[in-house]
Amino acid sequence: MGKKTDSELIIDGIRLDKRLPDQTREIKMKVGNIVSANGSAEVAFGNTTALASVHGPRPLFPKHLQESQTGILRVRYNMAPFSVTDRKSPGPDRRSVEISKVTRLALEPSLFLDDYPKVTVDGFVEIIQADGSTRVTGINALSLALASAGIPMTSLVSACSVGKINGTLIVDLNGMEDNNSESDVAVAMMPDKDIVTLLQMDGMLTKEELLHLLGLAKKTCGKIYEMQKNALLEKYRGEE
Ligand code: CDP
Repeated sequence: MGKKTDSELIIDGIRLDKRLPDQTREIKMKVGNIVSANGSAEVAFGNTTALASVHGPRPLFPKHLQESQTGILRVRYNMAPFSVTDRKSPGPDRRSVEISKVTRLALEPSLFLDDYPKVTVDGFVEIIQADGSTRVTGINALSLALASAGIPMTSLVSACSVGKINGTLIVDLNGMEDNNSESDVAVAMMPDKDIVTLLQMDGMLTKEELLHLLGLAKKTCGKIYEMQKNALLEKYRGEE
């Protein structure tokens, strides 16, 4: 939100959590941990953890919401009250409504929902620990959960944040970096198709900076995509 700070977030090219500008935090992925769901996944970027579950395809009620030619994806993003140091008041707010919507828009292009007329696929993202970049972490988790639910898809969606702190272009903003950034950008894409499905930007960047950041995001999403594929293989190879 047009943020700028005088505090030093990067010293001699090293960020306060000891990362290089183009380095992500440690990324962990696990598929299939919620047995009551049709699909599920947990993804962590450092101290940001998203748990995603998918229910459906299932009949959509009330009936007037049904689309005769296609199924629909519904998404609820929620930050748990205990996910941040200052307790977050429970329930939906403007931010979670917005993030639910952009998560849905980021994932819809990857799904063959036409195969499921009149039904819904319901995706839930719970942020159980929040330390920056929760929407992109949730998108990675929900894409994995949709794949593990067996929803036909053209590709996985991989997402990361990029931005600018103290004049330096960086990858994967943590909470402190996000709060004090000059700009932060959320990117989701289908890396194997080279298609961007979400691009949101806060703050100010030059055209050259934005293009450079998109290059960094593309490289990072490519790595995340490989990790997502490995997480799925790890889950399902043993079940063959
Ligand atoms: O999480 P994301 O970067 O996608 O969205 P944001 O609205 O830019 O939020 C940035 C960060 O602020 C979150 O990741 C949380 O770490 C923090 N936050 C918080 O501490 N309390 C809230 N109610 C909302 C966000």
